[in-house]
Amino acid sequence: MTAEIIDGKATANQIKEELKPAIEELKNKGIIPGLAAVLLGEDPASQTYVAMKERACERLGINSFVHHLSESTTESELLALVEKLNADDKVHGILVQLPVPDHIDSNKILDSIVQAKDVDGFSADSLGKIMSGREHFVPATPLGIMVLLDRYGIDPSGKHAVIVGRSNIVGKPLANLLMQKKKGANATVTICHSRTPDISVHTRQADILIAAIGVPKYIKPDMVKPGAVVIDVGINSVDDPTAKRGYRLVGDVDFEAVKEVAGAITPVPGGVGPMTIAMLMSNVVKAAEKSGL
Ligand SMILES: NC(=O)c1ccc[n+]([C@@H]2O[C@H](COP(=O)([O-])OP(=O)(O)OC[C@H]3O[C@@H](n4cnc5c(N)ncnc54)[C@H](OP(=O)(O)O)[C@@H]3O)[C@@H](O)[C@H]2O)c1
Repeated sequence: MTAEIIDGKATANQIKEELKPAIEELKNKGIIPGLAAVLLGEDPASQTYVAMKERACERLGINSFVHHLSESTTESELLALVEKLNADDKVHGILVQLPVPDHIDSNKILDSIVQAKDVDGFSADSLGKIMSGREHFVPATPLGIMVLLDRYGIDPSGKHAVIVGRSNIVGKPLANLLMQKKKGANATVTICHSRTPDISVHTRQADILIAAIGVPKYIKPDMVKPGAVVIDVGINSVDDPTAKRGYRLVGDVDFEAVKEVAGAITPVPGGVGPMTIAMLMSNVVKAAEKSGL
């Protein structure tokens, strides 16, 4: 049996297409949705992510304001910029690309973004709302996964979802979304992390297995229950002299081998990644709509 491929790229394109009428309607009211992205330093991966978000904005007619600051920017300078963006009527969403340099307290920065513009949903307030089932802005990656499951007719209700990875931006919010007492959720959730002994004991019980670890091809076929839905969040760059750029991107799942065991699987690239961008765009449009109320 070969798994069904869950096409995140096509689904993301569909979602972006569906946003167009709402963006048009906002423009008719004189509102152009605007996203401000703040990037510190020269980390190549962060620069790529910000450029991808900028491009998605441009294609949809969303204003993109990129603030590329030096690595040595102080915490108070960054807080002052966020304050300015909080007060700027042209900016409906603010994101600070993570990770920020060590001398900056990322939580302090994330919590300084006003709730109405926290389109990444990483502030303590936004994460708390997800936990208590009063969603505001849901972080784009977990939201993208929930939307992918829904659009592929995969109902988590009554299923055992096992998430490997407990980060604040993927694992923890996703666990909360999957366990909510509501339609499209109601899963039984297990979270594994680097201190979990014998992870495969847990992953083999998963009806829905989500890998958000950051270790290339960590999930092998013998860790997967036959027929399971496998969602690969990982984006890892590995050397490949045959590739034009000298590297290629792989997920946390050994895709070629696991697709022979799984019932459905997301590829990397073309799975969760494009959904993250699409859901961020969706959150920006939602923020702009709320600003016009
Ligand atoms: N597709 C997208 O749009 C998207 C979005 C965000 C992230 N990502 C990718 O997803 C991956 C995870 O991102 P993240 O930000 O959540 O990473 P993170 O903050 O580094 O968290 C990684 C998690 O995986 C756990 N872990 C690491 N190595 C492990 C191992 N050998 N066995 C078991 N657990 C292990 C860690 O455990 P501890 O907590 O014990 O340290 C941690 O909970 C990365 O590849 C990242 O690039 C992709």
